[in-house]
Amino acid sequence: MRRHAWLLPAVGALALGVSVLAVARGRDKDDEADKLKAAAAAAPDVQKLADAAGDPAALKKEAAVISAKDELLPIMWSFKPRAKGGLGVGAKGEGIELKLIGLGKKVLPANDLTAQGADLKRMAEVTRGIAEVTPSYAGKFTKTPAEAKEWKGYAEDMKKASDDLLAAVKANNGKSIKDVTNHLNASCNDCHTKFRDN
Ligand code: HEC
Repeated sequence: MRRHAWLLPAVGALALGVSVLAVARGRDKDDEADKLKAAAAAAPDVQKLADAAGDPAALKKEAAVISAKDELLPIMWSFKPRAKGGLGVGAKGEGIELKLIGLGKKVLPANDLTAQGADLKRMAEVTRGIAEVTPSYAGKFTKTPAEAKEWKGYAEDMKKASDDLLAAVKANNGKSIKDVTNHLNASCNDCHTKFRDN
């Protein structure tokens, strides 16, 4: 035993390191749990926004109520897969974000378009609804009037592209769905590149 006494401080330091790591990991888990809780709380609000997608006055009203009580992150979380706390598309619950990326890559064959019509419509409504509240968060994520203007520009692009997506889905037009989805995805990416931390 005595022979290894010199090891003790090293073992102690190691144990301390491990427990600090465990605390940090515990905190990450809490952080994740908090995010999921907030996302679950915001989900009915996002559904309400989506229900209002075809009605500008109702959209405006819902958006004012919701932006006053929810943070942006739990609202945006709706775009994640259902299994990860998002709303998801259709029975499988694929994330809207991933679905949009896929739709931008290839034109959906006519039979898929028919089968997925109702799910695609809801997806477009959710996106349109979220686009309505996004401008209200400019003050939280931007530092100058020029940045706030840029934020609102991306949010406006998102709004316009999701209106176009809704129209293309209603018209059952696969080629148009692909084209407008690419405009929509550009609005997400432009804003994230500039204003999202990660
Ligand atoms: C005008 C800016 C803006 C637009 C447009 C925008 N987002 Fe976001 N999004 C953000 C910001 C900012 C965050 C991070 C919020 C935070 O951390 O509090 C975010 C977070 C997210 C998250 C949460 C998880 C993560 O990865 O951080 C997802 C998912 C997401 N956005 C998807 C989308 C999709 C899909 C679109 C387009 C259909 C979109 N967003 C459009 C600003 C935007």
